[in-house]
Amino acid sequence: MHNEMPKVTPWEVRGEVDYDELMKEFGVEPLTNELLERLKKFSGGLHLLLRRGVFFAHRDFGEWMDSYERGIRVVLYTGRGPSGNTHIGHLIPWIFTKYLQDVFKAILYFQVTDDEKFLISTGAEIDEIRRYAYDNILDVIAIGFDPNRTKIFTNLDYTKEIYNIAVRVAKHVTFSTAKATFGFTESSNIGIIFFPAMQAAPCFIHQIIENEDAHVLIPCAVDQEPYWRISRDVAPKLGFRKPAGIYSKFIPGLGAGGKMSASLPETCIFLSDSPNDVRRKIWNAFTGGQPTLKEQREKGGNPEVCVIYWYFYYIFEEDDKKVQELYEECRRGNVICGDCKRGLTDKIIKFLMEHQRRRREAEGIIDKFLLKD
Ligand code: TYM
Repeated sequence: MHNEMPKVTPWEVRGEVDYDELMKEFGVEPLTNELLERLKKFSGGLHLLLRRGVFFAHRDFGEWMDSYERGIRVVLYTGRGPSGNTHIGHLIPWIFTKYLQDVFKAILYFQVTDDEKFLISTGAEIDEIRRYAYDNILDVIAIGFDPNRTKIFTNLDYTKEIYNIAVRVAKHVTFSTAKATFGFTESSNIGIIFFPAMQAAPCFIHQIIENEDAHVLIPCAVDQEPYWRISRDVAPKLGFRKPAGIYSKFIPGLGAGGKMSASLPETCIFLSDSPNDVRRKIWNAFTGGQPTLKEQREKGGNPEVCVIYWYFYYIFEEDDKKVQELYEECRRGNVICGDCKRGLTDKIIKFLMEHQRRRREAEGIIDKFLLKD
């Protein structure tokens, strides 16, 4: 037993994350080649985020694919806590979720936890959080989810349905489990102590509303795993299958170390950023370059620690060969940081312009996606 706060909770990710350690601590399994080969049978090829190991761990992903093969309804569930503008890190699980929706033709339930963000914020009023919720939903729709298969809701607007499930979950979760899982203390407000039941509830929503057996898969970054531990414990007590999960690493911020986090806006690419914001932020990003051009040419750079390289690697360079070349050429001192930064800036600006266009379109179709009481 150690009584230190866990290093990764849904509300905080501190320092460098050791993903092998985390898998042990959270009791999740690595995504093996065998599982990826199986997925390939359904999807044709493997998504970039799988090829580059961004999605790296899972729970029962194989069993979930078994269910699909046996004709059991497979459902996806993911979400967003609307505490501000969406950044590129948040997008990672959503892009991947869309890929899974396309491959498995799955219904997606998307929860927006406006209640959570109100409960944990120190200053924000409920109206402000609701505005962010609306705004974030436009970002979700802009990803291109299928309107006939995607149901988005906020906890404050779809309370009746969600609360009815949450109480059934909450009855099986003791305060001592919640404390050990989420690090609650005597000074935590009572709303946030109940909240894990609200986030667990959509694991069972399809089964209850549609009155149909279903196997749920949750794509998200690994910080959300504590919720699924509770959901999995409770599932059989309510007569449902345990939800499966597939988990990503954290996209780093543009500074030295740490995940991309809205609390450090200059190290964060927001989807609402202008081209000039992107130019400035990327120009100031942490690289693996040498202090002078001469040294860079002689000694080569260090892509391992270079945020610019990792952005190409994780998201912005589809071509496996090109990303490998970039790594080697940087090591040999044949590329300089300025060129890399300009290349990445162009890619990000192009991506954001397209996203912002799709977001404007989303305003006209938002009602097709929303569930409300
Ligand atoms: P939130 O809003 O903190 O994060 C939304 C999603 O983004 C993931 N994420 C990241 N992924 C990669 N790199 C990063 N730097 C990064 N930062 C955040 C999160 O893991 C999450 O998948 N309580 C949740 C909202 C929620 C939810 C869910 C999330 C409700 N139901 C079901 C996932 C699945 C929250 O505040 O997420």
